Amino acid sequence: MKLFIDTVDLSEIRDLNATGLIDGVTTNPSLIAKSARPIFEVIAEICDVVAGPVSVEVTAKDHEGMMREGRYLLGIANNITIKVPLTIDGLKTCRALADDGVAVNVTLCFSPAQALLAAKAGAAFISPFVGRMEDIGAEGMVMIKAIIDIYNAYNFDTKILVASVRGPHHVVEAAKMGADISTLPPAVLRAMYKHPLTDNGLERFMADWANTGQSILSSKKDINDHKI
Ligand code: G3P
Repeated sequence: MKLFIDTVDLSEIRDLNATGLIDGVTTNPSLIAKSARPIFEVIAEICDVVAGPVSVEVTAKDHEGMMREGRYLLGIANNITIKVPLTIDGLKTCRALADDGVAVNVTLCFSPAQALLAAKAGAAFISPFVGRMEDIGAEGMVMIKAIIDIYNAYNFDTKILVASVRGPHHVVEAAKMGADISTLPPAVLRAMYKHPLTDNGLERFMADWANTGQSILSSKKDINDHKI
């Protein structure tokens, strides 16, 4: 499963990208607003750091406006993915951009029926929002399973990008189902590697090691450094 990060925070992006675990970035108008930075500047900086797809969302509501904004945003870098909302104008824009060879991420998906339309419109990615579904008492992961079944039945190329992820449990469930990608807030990615037994175990190993009085680097002075 690929992992994207859902943020425009450059210091988080640099930090997490250095782990080699990050396959792409997703952004949205609310995240840009929270950063209080100019959209072109912040997206260009993200594209300089991350080689994978960087989703940036249009803000026009009509097809013509979306097309104009989309073409403009594509000028930022060659790894831009244009994000459009799951409206009829968004789907129309998706089809037109996809026909021009542009990768489109159809966002704000809350049902398998919507996901089917996005795939038929040529979306490179569909973003179903699991957390927001659960916020209203609906089953976010049931939606993911249904989308996977539909896409598999018809061999759609559209990648399922699980979004609105609230914790590692969503990522694990999505991975078990075979979803292509999850996009995670940085805190969720950090929560994925954290485990109290790892921390305790490491502490015990280090205490036992300290008692030996040894040091790995000074224990065998007669061998050359292994060339990595
Ligand atoms: O980028 C879209 C999505 O991941 C939003 O998540 O937490 O605002 O529901 P959230």
